[in-house]
Amino acid sequence: MIQLKSADLKKAKTETLVIPVCEDKDIHDDATIAALIRKAKKLKEFKGAKDDQVVFYNLPDVKIVRLIFIGLGKLKKIDTEALRSMAGKAVKGCIKKDLSEVLIAVPAAEKLNLTVQPLLAALMEGACLGNHLFDKYKKEKKHKPLKKINLLVKPAAVKTYRRLSARIETVCQGTILAREWVSTPSNDKIPARFSRSIARLARQANLKVSVWGAKDLKNKKFGAMLAVAAGSQNTPRLVILEHKPQQGKKSIVLVGKGVTFDSGGINLKPSASMEDMKIDMSGAAAVAATLITAAKLKAKMNIVGIIPLVENMPSGKASRPGDIIKSYAGKTVEIGNTDAEGRLILIDALAYGVKKYKPRVLIDLATLTGACVVALGEKIAGVFSLDDKLAQAIISSGDKTYERCWRMPLPDDYKELLKSDFADLNNIASTRYGGAITAALFLSEFVGKTRWAHIDIAGPVYGKKETAYCAAGGTGFGVRLLCDLLEKL
Ligand code: BES
Ligand code: ZN
Ligand code: ZN
Repeated sequence: MIQLKSADLKKAKTETLVIPVCEDKDIHDDATIAALIRKAKKLKEFKGAKDDQVVFYNLPDVKIVRLIFIGLGKLKKIDTEALRSMAGKAVKGCIKKDLSEVLIAVPAAEKLNLTVQPLLAALMEGACLGNHLFDKYKKEKKHKPLKKINLLVKPAAVKTYRRLSARIETVCQGTILAREWVSTPSNDKIPARFSRSIARLARQANLKVSVWGAKDLKNKKFGAMLAVAAGSQNTPRLVILEHKPQQGKKSIVLVGKGVTFDSGGINLKPSASMEDMKIDMSGAAAVAATLITAAKLKAKMNIVGIIPLVENMPSGKASRPGDIIKSYAGKTVEIGNTDAEGRLILIDALAYGVKKYKPRVLIDLATLTGACVVALGEKIAGVFSLDDKLAQAIISSGDKTYERCWRMPLPDDYKELLKSDFADLNNIASTRYGGAITAALFLSEFVGKTRWAHIDIAGPVYGKKETAYCAAGGTGFGVRLLCDLLEKL
C-alpha cells in the first residue's frame, strides 16, 4: 500500500523516516529536515554521496524512532532513475530490518529541476517495486514486504496526486505479477496451468477471455504453433484477452511469446544454463499483465492481447530439423532449427491478429534471440519497426520508465538470408551474424502492411542478481513500458 501523507515532523510519531540527501545542495523545503540533514552531515562518514547511508535512533529533535539518511550524490547526477533506485533501496533496507512501515521525505521538485509528477512517480515506482520478494518456494520466509509505504509531501499535494499514486500502484502490481510468472519454474507453468492463471486474473479485471486448446488450434490451422508444441506432453494454449471500451473502434493488438520452457527441441540446447529458459514466456507475461493492468485502470482505448503458450521439448513426436510446416497465414516454413521456435509461434499469433482485428497498431514482445543480448547486453531491449513514429514512441516510453529500448534496423536485402530451397521461408538464416535482425525480418513477413513493432526482450527480462528495485529473477520488463506507451497511442 502506497500513500501520500503530510505531517508536522516535530509531532509525527512515525517509526521510520527516510531522508534523501544531496551531496552538494539542499534539496528539501522543510526546515526540520534541513536541520536534521545538517546534523547528519557533521558525521565524517556521511556526506550524501551516492549510496551513503546513516541511521540515527531516537534523536531528541523529533518523535521518530529511526531516521535513515540516504545519499543521492551530486545534484547534476540526480535524475528520475536515481530517485527510483534510492526509493527501492530504502524500502529493501527497511524489509531487511524487519520493519512493516516507512515514511519517505519527498525532496522539493524545483530544487531538483524536476516537476512534481515525475518526481513522485519515480519515488513511488522504486518503493513499490522494491517491496517485492519472490520466496514462495522457500519454507522459511526470511523477510516480509512492508505493509505500508508513505511519502511525505506538502498538504496540497496529498489530494492532487492521489490518482497518480493509485495508477502507479496498479502498474507496479502488474509488473510484479509479470515478475512472479517469469520467476515461476516451468513445472508450475505448463501452458494449461499458465493459461488458467492468466484467465483467472483477467476475468477478475473484467477482460473478455478466450482460451483455445490443441483441438481449436488444429481446426483453425495454427500449423507453426502446433509444430513447436508437438514434442511436449503438455498441450498448447492460445489465450486471447480483450479490453474493448470503445465499440466499433480499431484495437491495439499486443502479442507475447509464451514458451513456458525452451529446451531447444531436437536441436537441444547445451546444458549450461538451460534452466534459464523458464523465462522464455516473458513476452506472454508482460502482455497478459499489461492487459490486466489496463483493464484495472479503465484504459480508454481498445486493446487485445494474443498469447500463444507452448513448451518446446524433444521427443518422438517432436518436429525435426528439415520438416516443412504450413503456417496460419498459408505460407510454408522449413524448420531449419527447432530452437528458433519463438518466431514460429509468433507468426501464427501475428497473422491471426492481423486477420481478425485489423489492428491500428500491432506490437509483439518476445525473448526471441540470444543475438539481441549479444548486441545490446542484458539491460536494453531491441526495437524493430519500419514505422519511425511508433519506434520513437516506444523508445521515449522506455526512457521515461527506464525500461530502455534501442532501435535496430530491418534491412530489406537481409531477407535473402531466410530463403529455403523447398519452402516459402526458412526459420533460420543462412548466416549466424545479425541473428536478432533476421529473426525480426522473419516476423515481418507475417504482418502485411500493419503498423507493427517487434521488441526483443531476451536481455532485460531476467536478472541473476538483485538490483536497486528488483529482486533476483524476473524483472517484469515491458509492463511499465507498455502501460506508458498505450496512453500515447
Ligand atoms: N529463447 C531463445 C532466445 C533466448 C536466448 C532468450 C537467451 C533469452 C536468453 C530462442 O528461442 C532461441 O533459442 N534462439 C536461438 C535462435 C537460433 C537457433 C537461430 C538463438 O538465439 O540462439
Ligand atoms: Zn529457442
Ligand atoms: Zn525461445
